Amino acid sequence: DWTSDVFIDASIADLKAKIGSDKVVMGLSGGVDSSVAATLIHRAIGENLICVFVDNGLLRKNEFEEVLDSYKHMGLNVIGVDAKQKFYDALAGVTDPEAKRKAIGNAFIEVFDEESNKLEGVKWLGQGTIYPDVIESISVKGPSATIKSHHNVGGLPDFMKLSVVEPLNTLFKDEVREVGRALEIVEKIIGRHPFPGPGLGIRILGDVTAEKVKTLQEVDYIFIKGLKDSGLYDQVWQAGAMLLPIQSVGVMGDERTYEKVVALRAVGSVDGMTADWIHLPYEFLGKISNEIINKVKGVNRVVYDISSKPPATIEWE
Ligand code: XMP
Repeated sequence: DWTSDVFIDASIADLKAKIGSDKVVMGLSGGVDSSVAATLIHRAIGENLICVFVDNGLLRKNEFEEVLDSYKHMGLNVIGVDAKQKFYDALAGVTDPEAKRKAIGNAFIEVFDEESNKLEGVKWLGQGTIYPDVIESISVKGPSATIKSHHNVGGLPDFMKLSVVEPLNTLFKDEVREVGRALEIVEKIIGRHPFPGPGLGIRILGDVTAEKVKTLQEVDYIFIKGLKDSGLYDQVWQAGAMLLPIQSVGVMGDERTYEKVVALRAVGSVDGMTADWIHLPYEFLGKISNEIINKVKGVNRVVYDISSKPPATIEWE
C-alpha cells in the first residue's frame, strides 16, 4: 500500500544514490508541485540544491515576497530574481493568448538560463512534474515536447542540457499534497489553488501592462481574501479574476464613469480537465462586488462567470 512516509524514505534514498554530490538547479513557482519536489530533493542533498524563484510581474499581490520568505524559512537555498520589467517588455502589444504564453515562456527560459549559468558545476535540473503531466505530455504533445531530452540538444539553453530529476513523476496531485504535509510544508503552500504558469498574463484579456496587472492584483486580492475569510477557499478548486478589455458606463455621485469590467471565476474540479462553476452565496458575491468597486480605482462593474468546462475553459485565454 502507498503511504507518504514510505514514498518519502524511498525517494530520498533514490535521490541520494542518483545525484550523489552533484549540484541540482530548479525553478520554483510558488505552487504545490515544485515546492514539494524541491523539499524532497533538499532533504536528500541539502545545499547542493539551488532554487531559482522568478518574479515575472504576473504573480498575485505580495506573492513573490511572501513565497520567497516561506522558502527561506523552509531552509531552501533559493535565489529570488526580480525580472518584472523583462516580462512586461516581452508582453508589450501582444494580445493573442498563445503568443502571450510563448512570450512569457521564452522570457522565463532566458532568465532561468542566465541564473543557472552563474552557478558552477550544476549537473541536474530538478522539476516538479507529476504523473498527470507525464501522461498529458505524451498524449498531447509527444514525449519530446517537454524539457526532458538528454541527447542531441544543440541550440537549447544551457540548463536544458542538464539531466532531469523529477521525484514526483509517479504521483497524483492528492498524493503530492499528502507528501507535502508529511514533509511539514506550510498549509499556505500545500492548500493553495492551482495557478497557471503565465499567471495574470492570461487573465488580462488583450495586451498586458504593469498598470493593468496592478489593477487585477487588487481585484484578485479582495476576492481571494474574501474566500479565505468566509471559509469558502477550501471548497473551491480554483478561483481568480479576469480583467476584461472593455469599459462600461457607470455612475458615481453626479458623474458618469466609463471604466473597466472584471469577471470573477470560481470552479470545482478534480484535475482541471472538466470543471463546474461554484454556486457562491449571493451575499458573498454582493459583498465582494461592492468592495472591489469601492476600493479598486478604474473598475465600475463586476460580473460572475457561470460557465462550466466544457464547453468553456477555466481561464478566459
Ligand atoms: P483551462 O483554462 O484550459 O485550464 O480550462 C485548466 C487548468 O490549467 C491551468 N492553465 C495553465 N497552467 N500554463 C499553466 O501552467 C498555462 O498556460 C495554462 N493555461 C491554463 C488553468 O489555470 C487551470 O488550472
